[in-house]
Amino acid sequence: MIISGTQLAKELKQDVARRVVEAKEKYGRAPHLVVILVGEDPASQSYVKGKGKDAEEVGFKGTTIRRPADITEEELLAMIAELNADDTVDGVLVQLPLPKHIDEDKVIEAIAKEKDVDGFHPANVASLWQKLPCTLPCTPKGIIKMLDKAGVEIEGKKAVVIGRSNIVGLPVSKLLLDRNATVTMAHSRTKNLAEVTSAADILVVAIGRPRFVTADMVGEGAAVIDVGVNRDPETGKLCGDVDYEACKDKASVITPVPGGVGPMTRACLMENTLECFLRKME
Ligand code: GUN
Repeated sequence: MIISGTQLAKELKQDVARRVVEAKEKYGRAPHLVVILVGEDPASQSYVKGKGKDAEEVGFKGTTIRRPADITEEELLAMIAELNADDTVDGVLVQLPLPKHIDEDKVIEAIAKEKDVDGFHPANVASLWQKLPCTLPCTPKGIIKMLDKAGVEIEGKKAVVIGRSNIVGLPVSKLLLDRNATVTMAHSRTKNLAEVTSAADILVVAIGRPRFVTADMVGEGAAVIDVGVNRDPETGKLCGDVDYEACKDKASVITPVPGGVGPMTRACLMENTLECFLRKME
């Protein structure tokens, strides 16, 4: 079975849109998401455009602030401080990566934790690891929703996560652990990786290498979640970290690229923004 992220994202956005209508009636305005794009990286431009489109679709006020790549760190931090202080702004997202002369950690920390719709602020990260209420990072949140919607049982299952990034690998491991999976965190230095991954009931791949996971690395009947967004070196087309064609018949469920995790990540960003808004207003 293919898990259609496109379809699930559509349903989640419809649900958010319904809640936005209610929230508008109750509080007199819609949630306001501000997205900051620095520079002209084509992938970032396309992601930011998508976020603006989603915001409009669910009935938010959406603002995109574009600044040239030579903006100083000071200027960017001043802009964030202003947005933090602006009571009509509910969510602030700075598209990553940033130019090298800007300290990303400093920027993430500068966003008010209450407006951190990405769930990247150290206070939100700490709350996740302490199992306290927080804004969850969008991709891990979307992955758990996809597994649930596909009817994949998590409790007691062997989950293997390939990749240990702050954005995906680490937080999705923690969310799987919180759902009582037995979690193995694998990465580029893991020995006998195929042996480790083929034992997985749930395999989450976020390593950023085109078609890295081959059929021999997937156990019969595994649920395979592909977080990769790569350009195929030969065709130039989008492809995941999983060799989809080779693995799809071995997996019980699998996510495609494109149309899998990506759209769910974006839909979760909309949900996070609504939740930040409601937390402030309620
Ligand atoms: N760049 C790639 N993914 C993300 C994301 O989830 N959030 C932000 N802010 N930047 C990104």
